Amino acid sequence: MHVGAGVWFLFACSVLPVDSGGSEAVLDLPGHSECLPAGEEMTAEVCVAVVEEAGRYPTVSEDKSGLDTPPDDPRADDPELAWLTSEVNRCACRCCHTASWGGAGVYFWDLEFRPVWTDSASLWSLGVFAGLTEETEQTLPTEDIERVRAWLERERERRGGEEEYE
Ligand code: HEC
Repeated sequence: MHVGAGVWFLFACSVLPVDSGGSEAVLDLPGHSECLPAGEEMTAEVCVAVVEEAGRYPTVSEDKSGLDTPPDDPRADDPELAWLTSEVNRCACRCCHTASWGGAGVYFWDLEFRPVWTDSASLWSLGVFAGLTEETEQTLPTEDIERVRAWLERERERRGGEEEYE
């Protein structure tokens, strides 16, 4: 598949490449908040095209947790984090928030930040993520937002969070 050439077609629910009938295949790009069914992942191919179409400069992530995190932090193995990560990975969010794909959103949170990617997000950004602010477009499109909020509440306490959302 040749990414970066031809026409982009946007279909609401499909991110599968379609055959344009000619020598150049066309890649459907997901919208900002589109997701695949649970258990699937946005592919690198789709994501690189999403980032390219957004056309913004890549950014870099940094630790915004304000805490010293050991490299073997047990939070990295938390099943709730694994669930959260899989919910992100099935959505277009993954595309602009993965450092190696060059997206502009990485400075705000980066799925490749280690040992625990959520440390690259401020408490404010995590609140946006969990739908606790009015920035609803940047809320994770999950069917279980309460589960995200329960995870966030623990993280907020861990950071000694003063953050209040509105
Ligand atoms: C096309 C690229 C792109 C996609 C797709 C994308 N983001 Fe982002 N995101 C950004 C950029 C760039 C920023 C930095 C702030 C800005 O420019 O809006 C950002 C910032 C954020 C923030 C921080 C907001 C704050 O005020 O601290 C959150 C939370 C967020 N995105 C969540 C999401 C979620 C959830 C999805 C999927 C539904 C998503 N993003 C999809 C590019 C993207």
